[in-house]
Amino acid sequence: MKNLIEKIKKLKEEKNAIILAHSYQNIEIDEVADFVGDSLYLSQKAKDTNADIIVFAGVFFMAQTAKTISPEKKVLLPNRNAGCLMADMINHEQMIEFKKNHPNIPVVCYINSTAEVKAECDICCTSSNALKIVKSLNSPKVLFIPDANLGKWIEKKLKGIEVITYSGNCPVHNNVEVRDIELARKKYPNAKILIHPECKPEISALGDYVGSTSGIIEFVRKSKDKQFVIVTEKGVVDRLKRDYPDKKFILIKNNMICESMKLTTLEEILYSLEHEVNEVTLDEDIRKRSAHCIERMLKVSK
Ligand code: 13P
Ligand code: SF4
Repeated sequence: MKNLIEKIKKLKEEKNAIILAHSYQNIEIDEVADFVGDSLYLSQKAKDTNADIIVFAGVFFMAQTAKTISPEKKVLLPNRNAGCLMADMINHEQMIEFKKNHPNIPVVCYINSTAEVKAECDICCTSSNALKIVKSLNSPKVLFIPDANLGKWIEKKLKGIEVITYSGNCPVHNNVEVRDIELARKKYPNAKILIHPECKPEISALGDYVGSTSGIIEFVRKSKDKQFVIVTEKGVVDRLKRDYPDKKFILIKNNMICESMKLTTLEEILYSLEHEVNEVTLDEDIRKRSAHCIERMLKVSK
């Protein structure tokens, strides 16, 4: 593995490339990553970098987002099968139909969506800025796609704004049930429970903190508590255990694993960078139309 890591690092330098990694990736990817974080942080880094090549250790919509806002760069997705089950729950036709059924209402799209879908929306958001973005629209009603859980959580938090949601969800987070949280409270009465808002809103309501993957990590960094129940994908727990060995972290369920996120390997990163394969490309018209809603989000979240 050491050899592999050295080879990737050398190639990165030779080719002026950077590696962006989501915190759900296999933890060894961090050894070669320039930036590790949540969806918002990684899209900001994709926008700001001077690199010629971005290798995205994440899933397809993330690499597509990077290409959308940095079109002059070569964006590589080391494993082409790394998709997002939630993003796949709405396609362009379904998006058009949803808007037709609810005309003249601003549309917010969660970043977990394809460029074709984003092209039909007004503004994008991630789990870390969703409340701010929806508020910024100053509208009593918004359409929210594709994550119904996140949309309903926003509605609960921003009292007075109606959030009309599409029926998508993340199967990893959607599988957490109220009884799982109740059991964890009983078993670990001194632990703080930190929840990702892709969980059902009734789950988020039970958390000591609700936020993005980076938000959860930041909460732990600032906290004096010693025990945490983590209600998101396992990659976050792996990193917390590595970075805070004196604290205890409990993953809410063993099956909190996003299979797509785990597809990327160091071998594939090396191969894609060496041969510059698995490049993400976009139709220019779709790119421009989807860039608008990502750029608008980045401006609001500054
Ligand atoms: P964040 O990284 O924005 O917390 O989102 C989690 C996720 O599901 C990424 O696909
Ligand atoms: Fe998509 Fe869920 Fe995996 Fe995130 S965790 S990439 S939302 S399937």
